[in-house]
Amino acid sequence: MKNQIIIENKIPNYNKTIYIPGDKSISIRVILIASQAIGKSKAYNLLESEDVKNTIKSMKNLGVKIVKKKNFYEICGVGLNGFKFKDNQILDAGNSGTFARLCCGALANISKDLKITGDKSLSLRDFSRIIKPLRLFGMNFKSKNNKLPLIVKGSEFLRPITYNENKGSSQVKSAIMLASLQTPGTTIIKCVPSRNHTENIFKYCLNVPIKINKIKNYDIIKVQGLKNFFSFNYKIPGDISSAAFFIVLTILSANSKVIIKNVNVNKTRTGVLRILKRMNAKIKLINRKIYNGEEVADVYAESSENLKSINCPKSLNTKTIDEFLLIFLVCTKAKGVSKFKGLEELRHKESDRLKIASKFLRMIGIKINERFDELDIYGKPELRLKKNYVVENFLKDHRVFMMSCIAALTLGGKFIIKDKDSINSSFPDFLKKLEQLGATIKY
Ligand code: S3P
Repeated sequence: MKNQIIIENKIPNYNKTIYIPGDKSISIRVILIASQAIGKSKAYNLLESEDVKNTIKSMKNLGVKIVKKKNFYEICGVGLNGFKFKDNQILDAGNSGTFARLCCGALANISKDLKITGDKSLSLRDFSRIIKPLRLFGMNFKSKNNKLPLIVKGSEFLRPITYNENKGSSQVKSAIMLASLQTPGTTIIKCVPSRNHTENIFKYCLNVPIKINKIKNYDIIKVQGLKNFFSFNYKIPGDISSAAFFIVLTILSANSKVIIKNVNVNKTRTGVLRILKRMNAKIKLINRKIYNGEEVADVYAESSENLKSINCPKSLNTKTIDEFLLIFLVCTKAKGVSKFKGLEELRHKESDRLKIASKFLRMIGIKINERFDELDIYGKPELRLKKNYVVENFLKDHRVFMMSCIAALTLGGKFIIKDKDSINSSFPDFLKKLEQLGATIKY
């Protein structure tokens, strides 16, 4: 069977309630942090995707026992100083930037060399963003051009740091926070706000003394080092980054409605909802509740005509970072020119998503202006595709594949979309879920 799919029909109208898998960012954090707790933690609704499987496998290679039980994973933590591994041990992060970067912070006190590797896409990504602050703690790194493979060694004399994080990267912030847990004294991070799941786990699950203040547009986070912390249980909510594909599918389809149950709608993640609402999309949140500091709700979305363009404020960028491909797709059907700025970080994801978005939009006949960190999209509400299109996906970017499927199911035309297996990184059941809603997909 070829590693590609063909879609040649729009999805027929539907009215359904669906569940989507657990949040990837939280799943990786829960495994990593519970591995360093004392005692047995339970993770319910853990995402079972390659990125999380690589996290589990790596923790097992560091001596952590992790067992799949009937409806949860049990993680037998080894304590803050407890990782044990063989000489020449390698941790393979696969496609997961989040695991590879956060893990480096968690390794702050290991006393011998450990090698971290990744797939082709991850091996092209920059690690200087975490190497720089972690070296200030006293950690050691060896690499070629700050890329994987990376040799990591910790220090028994870690010192607390004060660091400015200007990219709005939660991976960098979280790597520093994990290293600070093992470091005597107070570490201070001044950062552009980004997803705050690590802060929430520290506060609501571990009782770590952490202080967070807002000064102008920055968060000032202060973490006190600890000797140890104890196990916890966590019910992981659905991933808004996965839900977003079904929200956009519904908005762009005729006469359709969807309710997506139990989605994480933490305000640091919901830029996609705010942008879509400003564009006139019909979206509502129902049954809101708070769990472990994370806001959770059912997301209702329905077909939305009369979409209008957006001049997207930069302040929404970090809150929308993984959903921009979908937002750009919606802009093709919006009246007017949509404008985005400050998007350099999109060039450093699993692939250069700004370049790929431009190529995709041009291919389907949309006029765009692409600059270094900006994109203008000239919407065509009357857009109906009739030709054949092939989407190559050389770096196997899961979000490029899934966005292309949503485009094919809503815009018409015939699409051949390559690298189906890329969905295993974050959403292995993605195509099955589309089929449950009525999509016809040829394999
Ligand atoms: C993530 C943070 C974001 C995001 C990534 C997951 C996380 O990356 O794009 O998919 O779980 O911390 P950056 O922190 O590099 O922006």
